[in-house]
Amino acid sequence: MILYFSGTGNCLAIARQIAERLNNASAEGTPKEEVVSMYDAVGRDLTSQKLIGLVYPTYYFNPPAPVCELVERLSISPEAYVFIVIPCGAQTGNAVWAVERILRRKGISVDYCHKVRVPDCSAIGFGRNPNEQSWKFSRFASRVEKIASDIKARRRAHHYGAWGLAGWLCALPFMRRKTQPLLQPAVETDKCIGCGTCVRICPQANIRLTDVAEGTQKAVIGEQCAQCLSCVHFCPQQAIAINHKPSPADHQYHHPQVRLKDMLRR
Ligand SMILES: Cc1cc2nc3c(=O)[nH]c(=O)nc-3n(C[C@H](O)[C@H](O)[C@H](O)COP(=O)(O)O)c2cc1C
Repeated sequence: MILYFSGTGNCLAIARQIAERLNNASAEGTPKEEVVSMYDAVGRDLTSQKLIGLVYPTYYFNPPAPVCELVERLSISPEAYVFIVIPCGAQTGNAVWAVERILRRKGISVDYCHKVRVPDCSAIGFGRNPNEQSWKFSRFASRVEKIASDIKARRRAHHYGAWGLAGWLCALPFMRRKTQPLLQPAVETDKCIGCGTCVRICPQANIRLTDVAEGTQKAVIGEQCAQCLSCVHFCPQQAIAINHKPSPADHQYHHPQVRLKDMLRR
C-alpha cells in the first residue's frame, strides 16, 4: 500500500506511477498495491501489508506538519518493507529524518528512500512561473522508473541527497516560523464566487463557506492550514492569494496527470 499526502498532485502522481510499475511487474494472483491518502489510511489496520510506501512533499526543509501527525497514528507492521519517496523543489533537509524518527519510536525502520526533484508548487510565493520548470519533468519519469525497480527488488538504500550546514539551519523551527507567513494563502473576497472548490479540496477540511449577503457565500480559511496550496492552485477564479500576491492562471500549477477530482477529499 502506498500512502500519500499531496497538495498539487506531485506526490499523488509519483505514488500512482510507482504502484502501476509494481503492479505491472507482480505475478498473477498477487494482491495489487493500493494508493491511499494518508488521511484515509489512519484508522485502517495496515499490519497485514508487506509493503508500505510514504510519499509526501518537503515543506520548509521538513515534512508537512499533518504528515507527522498522521504517521504517528498509522498502524504498520515492523516486518513490512517501508519506503519513503520525497519530492522537493530543491532540497529535502530534515523531511526524511523527522518521519524516520517517528517510525523508529514505533519500532519500524525505513528500508529505502529517494528524493525526486519536481516543479515547485510554492513557486508563486517566490515569483517564479512553475511552467518554466519543465526540465524537471524530463527527469521525473526515469527517476520514478528507477525507484520502482529498486522497490520491486526490495533494495535497502537512502538517496535523499547531502545537505550541508545551510540546509540544516533552514530546517530549524525558528526559520520555519520566519518563512511560513510568506506562503500563507488568503481569500480575495472580491474574486471569490463561493463555488466551494477549495472547501472540497483542502485536505485539512480547513476552509468553509460563509454567508456574506442574501444568497452570496465566500470562502474563509481557518487556523489549521497545512500550506499545501491546493486551494490556491485549483481555484477556478484564481481568488486565493499567497502572502497578498495574486495567483494568476498561468502561475497555477498541478501535476499534469492529476485532475481536480483526484484531489477532492473523500
Ligand atoms: C509550503 C511549502 C514549502 C515548501 N518547502 C520546500 C523546501 O523547503 N524545499 C524544497 O525543496 N521544496 C519545498 N517545497 C516544494 C514542494 O516540496 C514540492 O512542490 C512538492 O512537489 C509538493 O508536492 P505536492 O504537489 O504533492 O503537493 C515547498 C512547497 C510548499 C507548498
